[in-house]
Amino acid sequence: MSAPPLLEVRGLSVGFLTGTRGEVREAVDGVSLTVARGRRVGLVGESGSGKSLTSLAILGLLDAGTTRVSGQVLYQGEDLRAAGPERQRALRGDRMALVFQDPLAAMNPVLRVGAQVVEALTSRRRMRRGEARARAVELLKRVGMPDAEARADAWPHELSGGMRQRACIAMALACDPDLLIADEPTTALDVTVQAQVLDLLGAVQAERGLGILLISHDLGLVAGWCDEVHVMYAGQLVESGAAERVLTRPRHPYTAALLESLPTPGRRRERLPELPGRVPEPGQQLGGCRFHPRCGVATERCRTQAPVWSPLPDGGVRCHHPMALAAGPEGAVAAPQGADDVSSNELPPPGGAASTGSGTGPHAGASDGTRASDGTRAFAPFAASEGEAS
Ligand SMILES: Nc1ncnc2c1ncn2[C@@H]1O[C@H](COP(=O)(O)OP(=O)(O)O)[C@@H](O)[C@H]1O
Ligand code: SF4
Ligand SMILES: [Mg+2]
Repeated sequence: MSAPPLLEVRGLSVGFLTGTRGEVREAVDGVSLTVARGRRVGLVGESGSGKSLTSLAILGLLDAGTTRVSGQVLYQGEDLRAAGPERQRALRGDRMALVFQDPLAAMNPVLRVGAQVVEALTSRRRMRRGEARARAVELLKRVGMPDAEARADAWPHELSGGMRQRACIAMALACDPDLLIADEPTTALDVTVQAQVLDLLGAVQAERGLGILLISHDLGLVAGWCDEVHVMYAGQLVESGAAERVLTRPRHPYTAALLESLPTPGRRRERLPELPGRVPEPGQQLGGCRFHPRCGVATERCRTQAPVWSPLPDGGVRCHHPMALAAGPEGAVAAPQGADDVSSNELPPPGGAASTGSGTGPHAGASDGTRASDGTRAFAPFAASEGEAS
């Protein structure tokens, strides 16, 4: 029998408790994903989609007094939520490590940089101080910290943003984890330093065979760096697949819209299109597909019936009218398919992720004439006006 994957998340949901009647505002809804050893897996979506809550729930870092978490988080087959907080704490920072967006907030401001790495080693690995100090400097060198010996004695505020993020990666690697969850690790950095930090993560990932879950709002960054990509919208996964396929042939209109808003090398545009409107708040009742107020190809069916997860050869998609696979001419995004193209294989996602809506019933055809017969027309995935998107 093959070994279980490093991390398997099955139907993970997070809700916030509100008021005194125990009402729950759902913020993450039935997320299922797998991170195998040595794989780079991306989780992408606009701000407010529920990415950070997903990562905090995976690591057991949410406050039980204000949140309700359900679903399974399996680390090498072990059900961590069933195992309880003690076991989760033992694995965090040891087998599973987290790198945050804001390295300054993640560091202790009154502890020198090297001492923070030393602390991780002495508390978790029971190393003697001298040995831990030597290992800390070695780790700082490994993450490309110039003049590591001297920088180990610096205070966090004395380092640049890029150097601080390198120090945080050294802290995360201190106990030689198998799994690294990096939540917007490069968002606070300028473009050149972003590339250096991603190169560094890639190098340590390859060297140690780490599994990495990279979380970002930037689909270009995630799809360019990862093997697999999960696209999240309003708490749900809406598309999953091989990064190369998602980047070139997205099936979900939201993925296509995210791609359209990325700058394309060699393609001059006066203004990049923006995706109008915003991600709904947790608990906001929209009815139908959560993306429909912002979707340029929404039909009546989309407004009334929530799409279920439909498996694809490399993942899945949650849409009544997913886009055709045929790639259009250069720069064009594939056209949406008719409603009938999806329903034949509507099944819940692997791992029992929640599937809202029936997904059955009469199919409405694309009402706005955007369905392309040859798959070569550019597709405008944005809703027409701001007003519709509120
Ligand atoms: N502690 C909290 N209490 C209430 N709502 C929260 C809390 N933390 C996050 N949220 C809301 O949950 C949604 C998802 O948040 P988050 O996971 O941080 O999104 P992302 O990381 O994708 O930007 C957002 O609408 C956010 O405002
Ligand atoms: S086509 Fe319909 S189901 Fe698909 S994303 Fe747009 S609104 Fe949602
Ligand atoms: Mg976040």
